[in-house]
Amino acid sequence: KLFRNVSPSSFAKFLYYMDRDLLGYGPIDALMRDENIEDISCDGVGRPVYVFHRRYESIPTNIVPITDKGLDDLVVKLIHMSGRHVSVATPIVDAQLPDGSRIAVTYRREVSPGGSTFTIRRFRKNPLTFTELVKFGNISAEIAGYFWTMLDNGRSFLVLGVTGAGKTSFLNAMATFIRPHMKIITVEEVPEINLPHKNWVRLVTRQSYGSEKINEITLFDLVKATLRMRPDYLIVGEIRGEEAYVLFQAVNTGHSGMSTMHAESFEAAVNRLMSPPMNIPPAYIPAMSIFVMIKRVKIGGRLTRRVTEVGEVYMDDSGKIRFNTVFKWNPRNDTHESYVSNSVLVRQISDMTGKDVDEVLMEIGTRSKIVSWMVENGIFNFEDVSTYVQTYYTNPDKVLNQVMGKVGEVETTTQV
Ligand SMILES: Nc1ncnc2c1ncn2[C@@H]1O[C@H](COP(=O)(O)OP(=O)(O)OP(=O)(O)O)[C@@H](O)[C@H]1O
Ligand SMILES: [Mg+2]
Repeated sequence: KLFRNVSPSSFAKFLYYMDRDLLGYGPIDALMRDENIEDISCDGVGRPVYVFHRRYESIPTNIVPITDKGLDDLVVKLIHMSGRHVSVATPIVDAQLPDGSRIAVTYRREVSPGGSTFTIRRFRKNPLTFTELVKFGNISAEIAGYFWTMLDNGRSFLVLGVTGAGKTSFLNAMATFIRPHMKIITVEEVPEINLPHKNWVRLVTRQSYGSEKINEITLFDLVKATLRMRPDYLIVGEIRGEEAYVLFQAVNTGHSGMSTMHAESFEAAVNRLMSPPMNIPPAYIPAMSIFVMIKRVKIGGRLTRRVTEVGEVYMDDSGKIRFNTVFKWNPRNDTHESYVSNSVLVRQISDMTGKDVDEVLMEIGTRSKIVSWMVENGIFNFEDVSTYVQTYYTNPDKVLNQVMGKVGEVETTTQV
């Protein structure tokens, strides 16, 4: 009855706003549906909402919160959608939106005099795969082959770079190389990591309910708890504080680990690891065998991402932490130079497994070829990529025959 005198076009508009404001994300709903948008940020009242677009980088939108009330209400709505609570008493909240995106807000003018703010890191439904990283030139097929071999042999690594460099995405892509039935535990503040493995426990921190830190469960608490859960691989989304110490303790006592950390260089990372609050003893550092540096670089005027260096960590005779470079990106011709024949870890694996150094190097070569073949044959989808890796572990000939052009196909879920 209410809509008796309403024209069909007005009714459609009505439905649009219902859908957008009651079920969707309100004024930023369109941004939340755009696959090309990586970040959405609102800096306060009277300023345009900015997005970070995959192709056009940081650009302002025509969405401008005009009133304090409108913006405060939007922030409250977003936080409520995440099942959390924001108020003047707890004006800083991190949460996860229903679609998996990460959101950080400040409420009213309590700590942000320009008004409420929010920053959203969009979640990718389909995690980036190592074949996509190779296709984009972020890494070479040989780097993928190297990590595949290293993770097969339980080596640990740490990904470094600035905010938004692509550390978590790289870690996730490499984690698909872990053997299918290994026990993996991930520990994160917001669940971002997505694995194909079945034997996987995901742990996520809990914020406190009250203003005091009662009932809060931190990264430190969780990482400590994992040591009793006997993981083969312990993955900590990002290390920032004392949890780093526990992670390094774990990798020094026979577990394998991976994590990411903000740092501009290997040296800065080592300094940060050895200073408070992490306080990691220098002798602990080499157990985190590989350090990876990711940078956002400009190539032909376009901003893109490159793994610029992969280094193996060791301690020299004077007790100083040093790096043996195995891959280095050359900005002049945009290629990854390989020094993998000098790899210290390849020698360690050879000692441990009884295989010749050449055999281990050949295995890296074979796996690089499989990766190149997958890229050439358009195998980019997360499930398909995982299927190939897992099949290679259980039935290597099946994959090799296909790569070498013989009969037999690995069955993937989607046809490519
Ligand atoms: N190689 C890539 N190609 C295209 N997009 C990428 C690539 N790596 C990451 N991204 C996108 O960039 C954004 C940031 O990536 P990611 O979360 O991996 O960065 P990060 O370094 O872990 O950031 P933070 O420091 O905030 O944790 C995400 O939207 C992700 O999908
Ligand atoms: Mg990250």
